[in-house]
Amino acid sequence: MFSLAQKSALVTGAGSGIGKAIAEQFAFSGATVHLIDLNQEALSQTQASISAGGGTAYIYPCNVAQQESVAAVIENVLSNTGRIDILVNAAGIAHIGKLETTTEEDLDRVYAVNVKGVYQMMKAVISTMTAQNKGVILNIASIASSVGLADRFAYSMSKGAVLTMTLSVAKDYIAQGIRCNCISPARVHTPFVDGFLAKNYPGREAEMFEKLSKTQPIGRMAEPKEVAALSLYLCSDEAGFLTGCDYPIDGGFIKLNS
Ligand SMILES: NC(=O)c1ccc[n+]([C@@H]2O[C@H](COP(=O)([O-])OP(=O)(O)OC[C@H]3O[C@@H](n4cnc5c(N)ncnc54)[C@H](O)[C@@H]3O)[C@@H](O)[C@H]2O)c1
Repeated sequence: MFSLAQKSALVTGAGSGIGKAIAEQFAFSGATVHLIDLNQEALSQTQASISAGGGTAYIYPCNVAQQESVAAVIENVLSNTGRIDILVNAAGIAHIGKLETTTEEDLDRVYAVNVKGVYQMMKAVISTMTAQNKGVILNIASIASSVGLADRFAYSMSKGAVLTMTLSVAKDYIAQGIRCNCISPARVHTPFVDGFLAKNYPGREAEMFEKLSKTQPIGRMAEPKEVAALSLYLCSDEAGFLTGCDYPIDGGFIKLNS
């Protein structure tokens, strides 16, 4: 079950954290993976780990917010494998602040990556998937998408848009055999979280890590590989009946925290 043999899968944000874990999981489940990230050095490390495990990965340094850069990547992907079966949008950035402490520049920066980046990638693959009459898109949203998070005005805005773009694409392309879902993690222990703690709580990282862990009723953060396992299922043929859904992977955050 859940084999991705013969599949060609694009993963953005594949240089780190959740995107990296998904790319590795997909490669070890048989897919040829196309790794997309801003950070070339990080891409090479993910590629090396996939090759060491016997998988096949190509790398594409790219800013997902830039249309020409994304178009060039898709052209290269198609010349390498000729088809695109799966797109996972995991590239994303964080921002801390409420309405009053979010500047217009902050809002634009978060929008550019978290919203426009997802739009650019989906737009760039949709004609290929439509021509194949088959494809799967999986977007990494957040618990912020549906509940909003305190002191995360711009981030919650952007992840709300990821959820609604997912629903919109799922509706518009269901007749073309394209499934589109999103996953909404609570805190996952990745460099995203470590970077946040180092920047905002220098010297208090361990204390704050413990505090953030406890915001999930289950008492810990998720591991990237746990998000990768759900992603594998959702992108496999076994999930052929699933589209237009948002899957929380949140240690009970949404339903058990009241
Ligand atoms: N870690 C969490 O607690 C958590 C929780 C919920 C949702 N998420 C979401 O999961 C996704 C991945 O998060 P993570 O924790 O693995 O983060 P991460 O910082 O570890 O990895 C994100 C990757 O995206 C890349 N990236 C950033 N901007 C880019 C751009 N413009 N073009 C191409 N690549 C770019 C970075 O270089 C990095 O390699 C994000 O969308 C994030 O919002 C994370």
